[in-house]
Amino acid sequence: MTAFKQVKSLKGTVRVPSDKSISHRSFMFLSMAKGRGRIIDPLLSADTKATMAAMQAMGVTFEETVNGFVVTSQGYKDFKEPENVIDCMNSGTTARLLTGVYAPSGKYIVLTGDASLRRRPMDRVIIPLSQMGAKFAARDNGRCLPLTIMPSKLHSADIIAETKSAQVKSAILLAGVQAEGITTYTEKAVTRNHTEIMLSALGAKITTEGLKITVEGAAELNAIDIVVPGDFSSAAFFLGAALMFEGSELMLENVGLNPTRSGMLKILDDMGVKYTIENERGGAEKLGDIIISSQSFSGCTVEGDIIPNIIDELPMIATLGLFADSPVTIRNAKELRVKESDRIAATLYNLNALGAETEEYEDGMKVYPIKNINTKAALKSFEDHRIAMVAIMLAKRFGGEITVDNIECVDVSFPTFMETFKSLED
Ligand code: S3P
Repeated sequence: MTAFKQVKSLKGTVRVPSDKSISHRSFMFLSMAKGRGRIIDPLLSADTKATMAAMQAMGVTFEETVNGFVVTSQGYKDFKEPENVIDCMNSGTTARLLTGVYAPSGKYIVLTGDASLRRRPMDRVIIPLSQMGAKFAARDNGRCLPLTIMPSKLHSADIIAETKSAQVKSAILLAGVQAEGITTYTEKAVTRNHTEIMLSALGAKITTEGLKITVEGAAELNAIDIVVPGDFSSAAFFLGAALMFEGSELMLENVGLNPTRSGMLKILDDMGVKYTIENERGGAEKLGDIIISSQSFSGCTVEGDIIPNIIDELPMIATLGLFADSPVTIRNAKELRVKESDRIAATLYNLNALGAETEEYEDGMKVYPIKNINTKAALKSFEDHRIAMVAIMLAKRFGGEITVDNIECVDVSFPTFMETFKSLED
């Protein structure tokens, strides 16, 4: 258990870590492409290292450079059969996307993960990939890891989404780009579109019309250079921090602003929060610098089709309810219950431990402005990186004897969180 010194305000410039979703995809997609490509500024965290190791097991080479890696591959048609089980560790993105990458390979592959990942649903990729001819065996009646991919030949299919998940969409598109024929995937709501943007940059023929994405199979993927922007989901903690710690003034540099990821900015607009974006740049993946200061703000109701665009930011957004003039309500977010932890239960456990007034719903939560703080609260990370970071911020905000357990899990997405936060403490 770790205790923290109370922090008054945060000031300065933050360069957040590189985007986790784009880093995973860079490692995977350049491995699927033939030739030598470069990844510049990838995130090297526990999660993305799991993806890199998985691709090395398929015979792909990664050479370290000053700012990233050179990836050399024979392409997906010449993947080797891994000699051992692939450990996806804590990473749902690794497990779900790799299932799509590997299913058409005609190889025998076994995927597993840590205790948290072994509890998370895999049937969401197993069922639609099976409609494309993939063959799997998986624990718990075909629902969970460990999962075995059996050699089989995939064909194209028209898949209709059952969940609002970019991981599931990506798994289908990654299988579809390899299988013969034209595959379509129709989403239930727009989810993050990094896979579509990146596959197109590698030369795949992929188009989006409303909620329907179409990809041509048996594609030649060409190695390219990919520059990874800063992670909006990591920046979100500092957007939240500026609103939690009075007297703060922060500039967040080089943050990815893809609209399918940056929905929290719309939520901040709804809360009446003022911030500015400077130096907007980039092509298909926009980026910019965000400037935000402490201010008073109101609560709001967060629901509907924006949820997939703020899914990883919801523990932070819910926590802002403590500091707002009125409650924050989150609905339609049942997906939170199957993340690295049950993020509805985990967020409410910590807020309740601090003495907050909250309400729990099957698909969300309501958090009221806090009145009396329990300065002896023992907060828990639930071994979930995003829950840990919010808990650390709360402990630093309220001080006293508040502790947080097992904070090492921040390594999953933000290995330098503690140092970065400290460098801003005024
Ligand atoms: C991710 C998609 C989201 C998100 C996860 C990363 C991705 O998961 O929560 O952290 O990189 O595609 P779902 O697709 O399951 O919602």
